[in-house]
Amino acid sequence: MHGLYIFSVWVHIVSAAVWIGGMVFIILVVIPVLRGSEYREIYTGVLHRIGVRFRLLGWVSLLMLTVSGVFNLLYRGYGISDLQSGRLFQGEFGKILLHKLVLVASALVISAVHDFWVGPKATGFSLRDPSSRESLRFRRMASWLGRINFVIALLIVALGVMLVRGYP
Ligand code: HEM
Repeated sequence: MHGLYIFSVWVHIVSAAVWIGGMVFIILVVIPVLRGSEYREIYTGVLHRIGVRFRLLGWVSLLMLTVSGVFNLLYRGYGISDLQSGRLFQGEFGKILLHKLVLVASALVISAVHDFWVGPKATGFSLRDPSSRESLRFRRMASWLGRINFVIALLIVALGVMLVRGYP
């Protein structure tokens, strides 16, 4: 069982690295490069293709994080009855876990809105008319949702580290 737990923590950390690494790459590398004047014609199409491809990887990572996270809790002796009684969220570990899970839930909602509504709308309007008001509005919204999700992801990692080692 201990070997399985080590494997689960490994899956948890690798999935977090893939999810956050992908966001870092898109925000700090792909978008600044594509903003170059030589890519203006293909900007929307390429960004859309990259977004759709990373969307699958991102959601698979979030699923793996949730499954391995639940397994880690089971290994640490928590069960469904602790959730029902509220014991899961007591003590230092429980409080950090609660904050972490609230942020995880926010990241899931923001990712869903970004990936399945605002992002596709931004692409659709931009392909029709890149300078239209709707195009600018949805692109700005997509950009802000992406940045907010990135900050939330960094906070989740900080809480994950504190979960294991306690508050600083
Ligand atoms: C967006 C999602 C998540 C990210 C980025 C994330 C990140 C992390 C990180 C960085 C650690 C610290 C590992 C270490 O320092 O050893 C950790 C630990 C942990 N996480 Fe998450 N996590 C996420 C979701 C979840 C979820 C949904 C749960 C529970 C349902 C969860 C439960 C745990 C537990 C129990 C540990 C302690 C692992 C151990 O036993 O050592 N995590 N997480």
